[in-house]
Amino acid sequence: MWHTQGIRTAEGNDDLVPRLLLTDGPHGLRKQVEGSDPLALDNGIRATCFPPAVTLGSTWNPALVERVGAAIGREARAEQVAVVLGPGVNIKRSLLCGRNFEYLSEDPVLAGRIGAALVRGIQSIGVGASLKHSAANNQETDRLRVSADIDERTLREIYLAAFEHVVTHAAPWTVMCAYNRVNGTYASEHHELLTRILRQEWGFDGLVMSDWGAVDDRVRALTAGLDLEMPPTHTDAAVVDAVLAGTLDEEVVDRAAGRLLALVDRTRAESRHPTSTPVALDAHHQLARAAAADGAVLLKNDDGLLPLSPTAPQTIALIGPFAAVPRYQGSGSSRVTPTRVDGPLDAIRALVGAAVIVETVPDDGADTDTDTDTDTVALAARADVTVLFLGLPDEAESEGFDRTDIVLPVDQLRLLDRVAAVTDRLVVVLANGGVVSVAEWQDRASAVLELWLPGQAGGLAVADLLFGRTNPSGRLTETIPLRLEDSPAYLHFPGAEGTVTYGEGLYVGYRYYDTLHVPVAYPFGHGLSYTTFEHTDLEVHLDGTTTLVAVTVTNTGPVAGAEVVQVYVRAHGTVGRPRHVLGGFAKLSLEPGAGERVTIPLDARSFAYWSAREHRWRVEAGEAVIEVGASSRDLRLTTTITVPVDGHPPVLTPLSTVGEALEHPEAGPLLARPGGPIATMLADDTLDPGHHAMLRSVPLSRVAAFDPAIDVERLRALLAPPTEPRIG
Ligand code: BGC
Repeated sequence: MWHTQGIRTAEGNDDLVPRLLLTDGPHGLRKQVEGSDPLALDNGIRATCFPPAVTLGSTWNPALVERVGAAIGREARAEQVAVVLGPGVNIKRSLLCGRNFEYLSEDPVLAGRIGAALVRGIQSIGVGASLKHSAANNQETDRLRVSADIDERTLREIYLAAFEHVVTHAAPWTVMCAYNRVNGTYASEHHELLTRILRQEWGFDGLVMSDWGAVDDRVRALTAGLDLEMPPTHTDAAVVDAVLAGTLDEEVVDRAAGRLLALVDRTRAESRHPTSTPVALDAHHQLARAAAADGAVLLKNDDGLLPLSPTAPQTIALIGPFAAVPRYQGSGSSRVTPTRVDGPLDAIRALVGAAVIVETVPDDGADTDTDTDTDTVALAARADVTVLFLGLPDEAESEGFDRTDIVLPVDQLRLLDRVAAVTDRLVVVLANGGVVSVAEWQDRASAVLELWLPGQAGGLAVADLLFGRTNPSGRLTETIPLRLEDSPAYLHFPGAEGTVTYGEGLYVGYRYYDTLHVPVAYPFGHGLSYTTFEHTDLEVHLDGTTTLVAVTVTNTGPVAGAEVVQVYVRAHGTVGRPRHVLGGFAKLSLEPGAGERVTIPLDARSFAYWSAREHRWRVEAGEAVIEVGASSRDLRLTTTITVPVDGHPPVLTPLSTVGEALEHPEAGPLLARPGGPIATMLADDTLDPGHHAMLRSVPLSRVAAFDPAIDVERLRALLAPPTEPRIG
């Protein structure tokens, strides 16, 4: 289930090619106990359960995430694991995807940066990472056969972009293909995805393995560029037969085998990292605590109810289903057997001073037992502050199925109603992997702290955050809408009869909400702090093709804290675009009163769109607005710049228009030659603008009708040969 096949010498003793051990581990190692049921999900050896991707993403902190990756790498190495099966960088297209807790963001730039940090961290220890699930695995419904039908531009700009960033910036040793089909072709057989784009365009030099059981036809998969079927089945014979029958080139088999050997060599070459070094599990637990605290998002904090004082005499009620027994990770193949678990109740009791009374009701909250419920409400009524721990139960979200709504369980909402009726000092702490709606109840709580899934040290992190030992600094990686029905994929998800159409196109997450000004509960990038930050002195300048955005961030409040300064780009042009897209970001820790000047680089991609006509990235000349702020809807500074163009003239075809051709360095002057009819008409301002527009819309194939003297041969010589077909 978890090993590649090794080869022994003829004598049968030494390993000629050692077998490699591959295990799950996007947020901690899941190495199954030797000899246990390979299909079970809860039989891993003990390993540090770091916060899952949803929380790591919310840190917006690649440096910290890289340290988490290195810790996972160290635990993997100590267990002779060659490749850790993660991270997953699929885009959170729908709020309902059961696996959203394993993914990083609705935004490909953020998912790419955080994903690259994890890969760098894991591989820094000499253990390979497996970037997954390539590609367009954005739902669990029907995942083994559904075809994700996506237009070419959307695929490139949204669904491939994070993979591209990780491959080109962090060079993962392996990539895992997805179960689903993409535009009708299984991801495991998708030559364009696995070879033409991944290897030839992005320069991937590692091994492509299948997701577990994702291979439908081994020979077709090999031909498309899938090197390793996992787990191994009985399809070797089909490969041999195909070679003998001449339908499969033996070179294809050699190439795949060669890539496996290269992976073996890579893991060997890294043996400078000893496997015998004991793993510092306590340090890893503390790192898990830091990551959980860094990724928690303070959604609201009316009248500064938080942080609570750890010393002032007061009674604090801790109630709700996850007060004593935390929800800290998701289900499915990523499930880790933790080395220990710290829940909120014990952690808070350990943190506060003697004057603070922490009370709870055993087994309270989510059950319908009226006596317990009465005790709970009485406790909330007499406490000075009530902290209510709500969220999604374990069985609500997992690999293998999707959710059908985003509401909290009804018994929790009922508990919240009853508690809110007796206290106005109510803090809600949420633990959930996928978004839960807050709109219908959040006005009854003064503060809401979204932990996502905080990993095994989550309780310590909650205590740190509630009592101000750590200042919250997580930011939303996905928009929290007012209603599920407001979300962009609502009408198309999860499809039917084996097909899901990505009908919302590019307009995923804030790209949709912000473009259409849809009111939301909390926007992308949002997150409060116990201090305040000011953004000033925006300056933008060009360094080659890189746009450098400099801004000063100052901590203007009373305590130390961290700000995530976000840069959005609003580009205009001839194609439809989202209102703005994230270009870059930086997380800065600042003492009270301190300021820091930070420079955030934007590469040409921040201004580009994928031209489905030319099958390439295009940057259109013109202006763009650079926006700097603390969320996609809290933009504090803006400036307009001239876009640094990429130097590629537009590709002309017979169907290019006069307007498009006028931008071309050779065709433009040819069409607009002085005295020619086109130049004359365009210069004639007695003609109404509609006339000009009409002229500009004429295809080159018809231009002779408007300009009989045009040098058709010269024009023809400038036209590109027909391009390759779109992805399909
Ligand atoms: C999941 C992968 C995982 C693999 C091995 C599959 O069901 O989709 O993410 O790595 O199992 O457990």
